[in-house]
Amino acid sequence: MTTSIIPAAGRGTRLNSSLPKALIPVVGKPMIVWTVEAFERTPIVDKLVLVAPNEFISKFEQLSRENQWQKVAAIVAGGSDRQQSVWNGLQAMPDETDWVIVHDAARPLVKPSLIVAVWEAANEIGTGAIAALPCSDTVKRSLDGVLISETLDREQIWLAQTPQVFSVDLLIEAHEQAIKEGYSATDDAMLVERLGIPLRLVMGDPTNIKITHPIDLLLAEAIIACEL
Ligand code: CTP
Ligand code: MG
Repeated sequence: MTTSIIPAAGRGTRLNSSLPKALIPVVGKPMIVWTVEAFERTPIVDKLVLVAPNEFISKFEQLSRENQWQKVAAIVAGGSDRQQSVWNGLQAMPDETDWVIVHDAARPLVKPSLIVAVWEAANEIGTGAIAALPCSDTVKRSLDGVLISETLDREQIWLAQTPQVFSVDLLIEAHEQAIKEGYSATDDAMLVERLGIPLRLVMGDPTNIKITHPIDLLLAEAIIACEL
């Protein structure tokens, strides 16, 4: 069984919005509705665990009823950071889960074909896989934010997206290890990489943008207008 965890408990500080980010409308529908619909339409996804801001759990339940989502197994409260939110989601997964897909609610334009491609790569390698894009900018490292320390080899740089797919035991072990060591990461692959486990890169999709700043909402609307 494959279960998707959708961390959606962020506040959206960089969007300067009073609503939590996942509930902000994108072309008339809350962001979380776009995201969940993509997973509802993806055949290899059996169940969904939604991680919501604590005081918006009933709002998420209402959306699930209204939209007649078939796969939602649980809606749980998030934690103080993304990693804690994913951990809360892991606790609520159905016991039969073999593969976990973690996908940010903040990437509402994800396509079912990308979800399937990452899942297939994870199954092939047996550990896990993530969507990522080759970097098109020249990348500088700076130790102090003022002077350039070095230029990294762009050919070796990939920008991580979600979905990220892992075998369930591996992802749980990676989170447990991170908790034990007080380590925090900005995606789940980082936690698994630390265990020395190989993970596959799968070519991501430039339209699978993460809504972070106000301009990303405009970009999302433009992408939707082009694809409709
Ligand atoms: N997230 C979460 N729980 C948190 C923080 C983030 O579930 N405590 C989720 C967000 O809802 C989002 C994803 O993790 O789907 C990526 O986070 P990000 O883009 O940083 O969203 P926010 O944390 O909401 O935005 P900001 O950092 O600007 O406040
Ligand atoms: Mg954040």
